[in-house]
Order: sequence, then C-alpha cells, then structure tokens
Amino acid sequence: MADIHKKDVAELTADEAREEFLALEQQLQTADIAYHQADAPEISDAEYDSLKRRYRELVAAHPDLAEQATQLENVGAPAASGFGKVTHVVRMLSLGNAFEDEDVADFDRSIRKYLGLGADAELKYTAEPKIDGLSLSLRYEQGQLVQAATRGDGSIGENVTANARTIADIPQQIEGAPEVLEVRGEVYMSHEDFEALNARHAERGGKIFANPRNAAAGSLRQLDAEITRARPLRFFAYSWGDLSAPLAETQMEAIARLQALGFQTNPLTRLCASTEEMIAHYRQIEEQRATLGYDIDGVVYKVNDLSLQERLGFRSTTPRWAIAHKFPAELAWTRLEGIDIQVGRTGALSPVARLKPVTVGGVVVSNATLHNEDYIQGRDSKGGEIRGGKDIRIGDWVQIYRAGDVIPKVADVDLSKRPADAQPYQFPQTCEICNSPAVREEGDAVRRCTGGMICPAQAVEKLKHFVSRAAFDIEGLGARQVEQFHADGWIKEPADIFDLKEKYGSGLQQLKNREGWGEKSAENLFAAIEEKRTIPLAKLIFALGIRHAGEVAARDLALHYRSWSAMAEAIDTARPAALAHRAADEAEGQEREAAQKEGRRARISDTRAAAIAACDVPAAAAAAWADLIGVDGIGAVLGLSLSDAFANTDERAAFDRLVAKLTIVAPDAPAADSPVAGKTVVFTGSLEKMTRAEAKARAEALGAKVSGSVSKKTDILVAGPGAGSKAKKAAELGIQTLDEDGWLELIAGA
Ligand code: IVH
Repeated sequence: MADIHKKDVAELTADEAREEFLALEQQLQTADIAYHQADAPEISDAEYDSLKRRYRELVAAHPDLAEQATQLENVGAPAASGFGKVTHVVRMLSLGNAFEDEDVADFDRSIRKYLGLGADAELKYTAEPKIDGLSLSLRYEQGQLVQAATRGDGSIGENVTANARTIADIPQQIEGAPEVLEVRGEVYMSHEDFEALNARHAERGGKIFANPRNAAAGSLRQLDAEITRARPLRFFAYSWGDLSAPLAETQMEAIARLQALGFQTNPLTRLCASTEEMIAHYRQIEEQRATLGYDIDGVVYKVNDLSLQERLGFRSTTPRWAIAHKFPAELAWTRLEGIDIQVGRTGALSPVARLKPVTVGGVVVSNATLHNEDYIQGRDSKGGEIRGGKDIRIGDWVQIYRAGDVIPKVADVDLSKRPADAQPYQFPQTCEICNSPAVREEGDAVRRCTGGMICPAQAVEKLKHFVSRAAFDIEGLGARQVEQFHADGWIKEPADIFDLKEKYGSGLQQLKNREGWGEKSAENLFAAIEEKRTIPLAKLIFALGIRHAGEVAARDLALHYRSWSAMAEAIDTARPAALAHRAADEAEGQEREAAQKEGRRARISDTRAAAIAACDVPAAAAAAWADLIGVDGIGAVLGLSLSDAFANTDERAAFDRLVAKLTIVAPDAPAADSPVAGKTVVFTGSLEKMTRAEAKARAEALGAKVSGSVSKKTDILVAGPGAGSKAKKAAELGIQTLDEDGWLELIAGA
C-alpha cells in the first residue's frame, strides 16, 4: 500500500500535505468504522498500518499539521534509549551575577584593573536581555547543521540534534560561515505559545508546565522529536563556541554576522560606552519586560572588543568579560486562602486559587489558575508527578508565578509551612452552581458539569457565546446585558431572547427604567432582535455553543445537511453508533493500560471490534454515523459531542424552543441547474488556477458536496499534477476524473 503514495512527504506543497493529511485522518477514522461498526473491514491491517505510517511521516515533515492531528497518539513512537552524549570542544559556561547597580560598577572596575586601563579609558560593552530558557550549542560544518547539544554540565551535554532540527528559528544550513562554527544561544517559548500549550494540555490531559522555561526544556528534551516539533520553540543566538575562523572583531559585529547568517538575534542589544548607559538600558529593558512576550530574567553585559575578551579569559565557570544583571524574580510566596470553581460554557470546572494578595513583578495578584483537579493533586493526567507529586491544600504557602500578561499560576507549594490541619482538597463531584453531577470522561482532563442549560453558570456563558459577534451578533445585546437579563430572570435560554418584546416589551416601560436603558435603546434592541430572527443555518449551529463545534465545523455541517431538521434527524439516527464508538474508545483505553502492565502489544482492533459488536448497532445508525463523521472537517470527537448535545433532553428541548422561533436560512441554495449540483466532488493533486479553498467554495456554491476522500459516493474527482492514491482509487471505482481545465469547463457558465 505504501507504494501508492507517489510523492515523498518532503516534496509535497503545504496544500498537498494538508489535503493528504485531512484525507488520511478521515481514512483512518473511516477504516475504524468499517472495521468496528459495519463489521466489514475495507482494508487489511497491514494497509491500516501503512496509512498510519504515512500519516506520521506527513506530520513529521509538515509540523503545522501536528496541532490538529488526532491520530498521532495512536501511533507508536520509535523506541529511544536516552540521548547520546556530546563533549563540548569549547566549554559552555555560565555567567556571574550582579544584583545592584553597584555590582555593575564593580564589574567595570575589575575589568579595567585586569586590563590595566584607567577609569577614563574607552571601554565599550554590549547590553542585551538575558533570555530565560535553556542554552543550546549548534555545530555547523561546511554550513550544514551537524549537531545540537544542551549545556549539560558545561563539558558534556546531551545530543538533541533531531529535536533542534524541528525548531523553525534554527537554520539547517547556512551560507558564508566559517567551515566550523558553533552557534550558541537560548531555546525559549513565548508567553502566548506557553499559555496555548498549557490550555491544550489542560483540556486534553497533558502535562501542565509551571512556566515557559520548563515548557521549553521539557519540549526540547523529548526522546521523540515529533513531540518537540509539535511544540512552538524559538531560538535566539547570542554567542559562539568552536570556530575555524573569527566571526568579527567585536561582539556587536559578531552578533550582526550571526543575524546575517539567518539566526534570530535579540533586537534589544545595545552598545554602551559607560556603566551609566548600561544601567539606563537595563532600566529600559526592565520596563518593557512585561510586554516582550517572552521571559527574560536580567540583562547581560559583555565587553565589546573580542581581543579584550580573549585577554580577559575565564574563571573556573564564568567569563571575566561578561556578567548577568538580574531582575527581581516574578515569583512570590503567599497563602492559599481558598479554591473557587468556575464553570465555563461547556461545563468545564476550572479551579481558581484565591490568594492572600501579593505583589508579583509589580502587580498585585489575588487569583491564580490551578488548571484542573490533577494539577491540584500534583499529578499529570498520565499519573506522572508535577511538583514532585506535592498536592496543594487550602491554607498552604504557595509560590505564584507571573510573567508579563500571562495569567498568574500556582507553581509550587512549601510543605514545611503546611498547617497541621490542612486537608487534601476534594475536587467537587457536583457542580456547585446547579448541583448537577460533574463527571470526568475517559481521556478528559477536565471535570464537567452535566447541567447544560439548567446550570446558571453554563447558561450565562452559553448565552454570551450565543450573542457574540460570530454567532447571532445582536446589536445592543452584549455580554454585560446578557448577564443583567439573566440575573433578572428575563433570559434563561436563547429562545427567551426572542420573547423579550412580547413578554416585557409593553414592558418597554420596565426596560427603559432599567439602568443603562432609555426608550430609544430599548426600541433599537427589539428591532435588532427581530432582525436576527432570520438566521443562516451555519450561524445557528455555531451559536449553540456545542463543544468542538467551531465556526468552520458549523459551516461544514450546514453545507452537508442543508436544513436543521435533516441534521437533527441524522444525529438522532446515529446515536447508537456514537455510543458504540464511545464504548470502543473506553475499551481501547483499558486494553492499552492492560497491555502496558503486562508488557505486550495492545490488541486495539480486536478490542474495539468486540466492544462495538456488543452494542449491536443498527445498520441505519452505523450509516448515519459514518456519514456524519465523514463530513469534510468533522470527526469522531465532534460527532460524539453533537450526539451528546442532541441526546440531552433538556438541551434538546431548549434547541427546539429556539428553532421554533426562527426562520433558518439554508446555505446559498444550490444552483439546481448547475451541472455539479448534488454531486460529491473530491479535489486532489495541485491546482494551478485557483487555491484549494477557492475551488471548494466555488464547488459548494454550485451545490456540490466537497469531500476529502474518494469513496463509492464520489461523483467527480478533480485531479491536478501529483495526484496519487485518490486518482488510483477513483480509476478502480470507475469515477469520472477531470483535470483542472476539465473541471473549469464543466462549471463554466454555471
Ligand atoms: S552569554 C560564556 N547571553 O544565561 C557565557 N547568556 O546564567 C555565554 N543566557 O548559560 C553566555 N541569555 O544559557 C549569554 N544574552 C545572553 C543570554 C545568556 C540567556 C543564559 C545562558 C547561560 C546562562 C548563564
């Protein structure tokens, strides 16, 4: 089967890679369904493995796909047995520290003394941020990156070459460099990427990192380079090690040379002519610290003249020609006074630390995130330890970490200060707002309130989402107004919005007497609501705030089903198959665990098949489910979420009440006279006259369904250059195949 993938993954364009990736995601899912649910496997185990292998290669070669890869965890990572060791030709040293301005003056004095320079002799220094990450040495020979090593103990580091190759800031080859060049610098993670990584992990049950430095270190030191690839690491070059020829005569020029070679260098690097200028630059950087978007913990001063650096040389572990002027830490210890649980739109219970207010990095902090229940217990979702396994209890003395705009978090706990009567925190098993059970599903790191719209906290969040810009976007009805109306009991669920005028409008009186409302604004509000009584199907689906159903998925669903009733009916019909899918997921989880304990290979296919067989799924359900999760862009995760939402009687009744008040507009009516109306079209290979997105939009506008994979249901395959497996499959199935021009001709004039 591997031979049908004609092109090497590295040769695919980003669009081709994406297309194939989406198709593979779907093929793998479809194969699961065919095997487990329809009890009619369409491909052999070997073929299945080959698809997975290709999928993995694809993600490896196109890292931007990794974030949305749902099948990655299922793929066995090649066994690795720790990192190889690398002996540094030139030792990787650390820096001496300065804390006070006076220490900086001392540094300058001692250098002048060593060099025999008077107080007034010219002596320049560079001043640049000290990046809070981990240092890395990159060895280039004849311009090729041949090795990457961590600092280790300074003499011997770890060989992390494969991982370093996945970092976009690190060039694989450079031109115009000395034959041998070791570039040194810092690997780090931006605040934004760090927050997003932790949020993803909190949601999916991965490790939660205390700070960006730990996240960067944990990401770089992965035995599986694919994990590193999926983590957004960056690199600043600021120094060098082994060299076959000097880079420049000064530090400033050397940095410029590194930049010219293609490395990121820090834009806040300045040349200073005195300690006053150095300290002034330190203050300036300190002021910008919170808005840089990455952690720095000080400013590094270096003698600019490289021949002087050479003369000054090293002490045992630090250079004489450089020093780090540290910032006060953005860490603080305080008392944890309580833990509040916030309930989000999808019912997620998020623990928030209530703290005795403390100043961290110049900001008073009284709340901090605790991520999820595992984090409080000192565990990650896989049972590994966080903070050495220390749990967090109310009354504990906790360390707060904050950097820039990042939400403060509880990073550590001091057990020596734990009150004797402190009890382990019991994460609530019911929602504290509505008393509904809060359940944590297999594989979910988050415990969720099951109350749906019954839960006032969820209801308000859902209502805010409902009126948001990309959803109903009702002028004059924003988050604040929704809170107010909800608090007063005027709006409990979306349907109530459309009753506002009828119930309270004569009640304009009432509304206009409210704070913030006048007669005009009340009238405008009613008019704005009336205007949105007619709503496109896609917006309605998105507005419901069903977990995982984002704007794009909502659009895809609307295009596929074309009416609310068709979609609802399909989701209802598919319910038994959805439940069987979940049962199979659970059985698979247990089998994996058992296999790991017993040291054997997990029997995934058989386990899933048995679980599904036990559910006795009607054929119509299996077909509706396969159709649902086969919609381009929809998968099993969203399929299950939709299924759950529609099967929840309260939630469903709220949907029905809403829908009864609306006029739902189907996506642009398919041009019935278009030659492709109602046909299922697949695009493959590269298109030259339009982008893939354009082709898809145009086909859909003409009433065609665009699918990511070829099946018996496909009517037309549009194959550009480089088309591979799909063209072959289409030929086998006797499906009409057109090239791009043929397609354009077909739809010309439509
Ligand atoms: S120069 C010979 N410049 O700080 C020393 N180091 O505490 C060369 N660091 O191990 C280091 N930013 O990992 C230098 N702009 C910068 C730095 C920097 C961060 C790290 C580096 C070093 C540690 C020493």
